[in-house]
Amino acid sequence: MSLYLTTPIFYVNAQPHLGHAYTAVVADAVSRFHRLAGEDVYFQTGTDEHGDKVVQAAAAAGLSPKEYADRISGQFRAAWPPLAIEPDRFIRTTDPEHIRTVQAILQQVYDRGDIYFSDYAGLYCQGCERFLTEKELVDGLCPDHRQPPVPVSEQNYFFRMGKYQQWLIDHIESHPGFISPERYRNEVLSFLREPLEDLCISRPTSRLTWGIPLPFDNRFVTYVWFDALINYLTGIGYPAAADFGACWAAAEHIIAKDILKPHAIYWPTMLKAMGLGPYRRLHVHGYWNMNDAKMSKSLGNVVRPTDLAAEYGADTVRYFLLREMAFGVDASFSIDALIARRNSDLANDLGNLFSRSLTMAGKFAGNRVPAPGTPAEADRELAQAATAMAEEFSRQIEQFAFHRALQAVWEVVGLANRYIVANAPWELAKEPAQAERLATVLYHLLEALRLLTVVLQPIMPATAGKMAAALGVTLPADFQGQARWGLLAPGTALSPVEPLFPRLEKGTAPAAPPQPKPTSAARSPAPEPPAAGKAAAEGLITFEDFGRLDLRVGEIVAAERVPKADRLLKLTVKAPEARTVVAGIAAHYAPEEVIGRQVVLVANLKPAKLKGVLSEGMVLAAKEGDRLVLIGPGGPITPGSKVS
Ligand code: ME8
Ligand code: MG
Repeated sequence: MSLYLTTPIFYVNAQPHLGHAYTAVVADAVSRFHRLAGEDVYFQTGTDEHGDKVVQAAAAAGLSPKEYADRISGQFRAAWPPLAIEPDRFIRTTDPEHIRTVQAILQQVYDRGDIYFSDYAGLYCQGCERFLTEKELVDGLCPDHRQPPVPVSEQNYFFRMGKYQQWLIDHIESHPGFISPERYRNEVLSFLREPLEDLCISRPTSRLTWGIPLPFDNRFVTYVWFDALINYLTGIGYPAAADFGACWAAAEHIIAKDILKPHAIYWPTMLKAMGLGPYRRLHVHGYWNMNDAKMSKSLGNVVRPTDLAAEYGADTVRYFLLREMAFGVDASFSIDALIARRNSDLANDLGNLFSRSLTMAGKFAGNRVPAPGTPAEADRELAQAATAMAEEFSRQIEQFAFHRALQAVWEVVGLANRYIVANAPWELAKEPAQAERLATVLYHLLEALRLLTVVLQPIMPATAGKMAAALGVTLPADFQGQARWGLLAPGTALSPVEPLFPRLEKGTAPAAPPQPKPTSAARSPAPEPPAAGKAAAEGLITFEDFGRLDLRVGEIVAAERVPKADRLLKLTVKAPEARTVVAGIAAHYAPEEVIGRQVVLVANLKPAKLKGVLSEGMVLAAKEGDRLVLIGPGGPITPGSKVS
């Protein structure tokens, strides 16, 4: 096995929310990426079902702990397929196999003398299910759960964690990638500068019965972490499985910073006491916040992943989560931000690129991949950028820098959109002498799209599937092989497609209008958005309709009359690139009058020929009877500035 990837096993005291979904999406995308690279990957998630919190939640729901755990565990299991999250194993701490493994390990560590019986008094946070040190408290409260910890003093069993402190420090220091990002490694090392106390690992059954009994003293059950962490071993068949050693050597855990200490300190020392090596890597991410607080069941400010998937589709949610959060750093969630990404990055940039390219290949190349001629400078630039992007994507994913990986992809999406504008295939199509040039441009667009499809597979599997089908390609699990330029075979039949990301229709009216970016100013507009129900019927337009207009400040730098057309002026408008606009203003303005004037330009109007001159936009003017005046900004502003 080359990668054994895990998420935390989630507590079943409440339903899944977006924070859990994020970790699972990360694990799924990384698994898919490594599988594409031909590696043998095993991805495990599951639920953590013992402890006080579950007993209390079950009582509140009028169920037994097991009935309650079955119900919520089922909800976690059911939450993942709608987000295209496909774990190989869903483990539960109530699985008999897990209970046997935990008991065998307890006995083994006890026999080796690393578990002892003693008194303890400390401050316990039930949310964290561990004792907190005074230093960790903020205003006397647990900073995560915002509750005061409870003083607990009782006789219990303890794990000699302190004994392994120096070994752990040495291991972290000699393995720089062991805990990442770096800030969390530093946090752990700084914590380890203080003496490390032993770890309380039991609860008396007089206080808690919903746990795994200690094999050497049935008056006690294990304390949550000694039970939960061991799931990572149970999942790969410890100790009996023949390939256990190979799997364990490839273990990488993904968690959020809330459970850094159990994973970075308790777990490696427990493994050491068992005579096992530590996991290979620990990947730690930040929190999704909502209204400035950590999204959590205890605070109640949660978003349900299944609702989001149903409303926006798995791929939009996956893309948003991976693009919006820098792994390791907190991010805030809002529906507005999700809709903005969907409309701008997905519908506008990627969706338009895809539908324009396939539409043109349909119209100008009979729905087949044309054979390219000798590439020109711009073609080579696109090919090189797309190839370099695939490498950069792969490098960034390996470092868990998903937002950077996607930035690199979207740079190529932008470049390809500009390539369409610059090479205007619809113009080439009019000149028979340009047939080879047209074929070359279309080929380069389609091949760039194929490379985008290859890299998008692990992030947006359904979208990549649709793109591949439209391009007539299959995508074997061979990332390196597929991420090379020039594999798309001329003659391949293309299939017409539906829009990849139909515009959001209703209900979810964005608070801010979607922002089309300059790079995606579509000259040939996307297919009509679905009529927006009531608004359309009343002749009203929505924010979305308005957002499709790309209005820019333009500066007229040249103007001349159009021969044999006494109403038309041919203007050269800088916005900020120069373009030609034919305007019906000759009866109202002399050419020399308009030069230097700033106007409002409709920048994404489909180009059209007027009296033999190609017009690439429209300037706005107001009319009153016979009078006509150009509309301009109220003060000077940089040409190209967006009008909204
Ligand atoms: O801690 N932002 O379970 P848990 C980002 N059972 N990630 C979040 C998040 C947020 N706001 N909220 C939750 C437990 N998560 C133990 C784990 S493992 C051996 C035992 C995610 O249900 C994130 O992965 O409290 C975090 O570490 C985990 O859910 C905590 O889940
Ligand atoms: Mg928690």
